[in-house]
Amino acid sequence: MRAVVLREVGGPLSLEDVPEPEGDSVVDVRAAGVNFADILVRRGIYPQMPELPHVLGNEVCGDLDGRRVLALSRAAGGYAERVEVDPEWTFALPENASYAAGASFLTTYLTAYIPLIHQVRISDTSTVLVHAGSGGVGAAAIQIAKHLGATVIATASSDEKRAVAREAGADDAIGYDEIDGLRVDVVMDPVGGDVFTRSLPTLNPLGSIVAIGFAGGLWQDPSVQWLVGRNAAVVGFYLGRLMKLRPALVKDCAEELLAMWARGEIDPLVGATFPLGDADGAHALIESRKHVGKVVLEP
Ligand SMILES: NC(=O)c1ccc[n+]([C@@H]2O[C@H](COP(=O)([O-])OP(=O)(O)OC[C@H]3O[C@@H](n4cnc5c(N)ncnc54)[C@H](OP(=O)(O)O)[C@@H]3O)[C@@H](O)[C@H]2O)c1
Repeated sequence: MRAVVLREVGGPLSLEDVPEPEGDSVVDVRAAGVNFADILVRRGIYPQMPELPHVLGNEVCGDLDGRRVLALSRAAGGYAERVEVDPEWTFALPENASYAAGASFLTTYLTAYIPLIHQVRISDTSTVLVHAGSGGVGAAAIQIAKHLGATVIATASSDEKRAVAREAGADDAIGYDEIDGLRVDVVMDPVGGDVFTRSLPTLNPLGSIVAIGFAGGLWQDPSVQWLVGRNAAVVGFYLGRLMKLRPALVKDCAEELLAMWARGEIDPLVGATFPLGDADGAHALIESRKHVGKVVLEP
């Protein structure tokens, strides 16, 4: 079968013939989600680097024994025609959902939902600032926070992206340079770097910032003294480790999210699809920072 192989850090993603995967749960991949973590692995800066050569892709949607499924593959290998998945992390794709939407769902929505529900526990009186609101995690966070009745302000780097964040449900969408006067209860931050640091003063007393990712650069440690003085919290979230340590909680959340999707309360945003042979193009689009929503490969 064919798969996309990364042979060296920073190198090309080449479509190659590789051995068939073995095991009882081999999915015929119809769509593979490209996650920002894949970009970081390719750049060689992901905290848990795999050994190379490596087939990227932790999230797929396809056919398994006549069923349409979406699945997370902890061993990666998703940028391929077939991949072995863990039955524990395999779920039924809602009727009428496309394979591309299925490959866009689990990582983004779990990453938005679990902290909003189980860590910062937002309510309909909360004001939530969602950074990178047109991105995969960002658009999911907007949809979930709006569904829970919160007021949502999103940031994004261009007018086009801010329009996408508003379409996802944000009450307002602004540039990163416009956040300074805001006062919010929760910040959802997939960006990190300077945006994380500049977001701390936007927190109301008892407010929290959820540190999710570092697409815009690594975090600077906040001052604990400052956090104590402001009654503010920094909350960390890392889905991969939670899947290992609290699998039942994560699976319950996945089922809750799939039910919300089936009821039409949330709807994944597929921004672009690429053929499997053009994984380089898919990565280039994300690296150029011009994508919105989720980018998907289709074998
Ligand atoms: N903690 C976890 O368990 C977990 C799980 C999933 C994802 N993540 C992380 O969450 C972040 C978002 O993931 P995603 O897959 O949904 O990606 P994404 O949002 O589709 O892409 C990253 C976003 O970051 C923004 N950004 C800000 N500064 C950037 C920069 N210097 N370079 C590139 N992008 C920049 C871009 O939006 P603008 O152009 O509007 O700024 C872009 O939309 C990533 O950092 C990812 O690693 C973490």
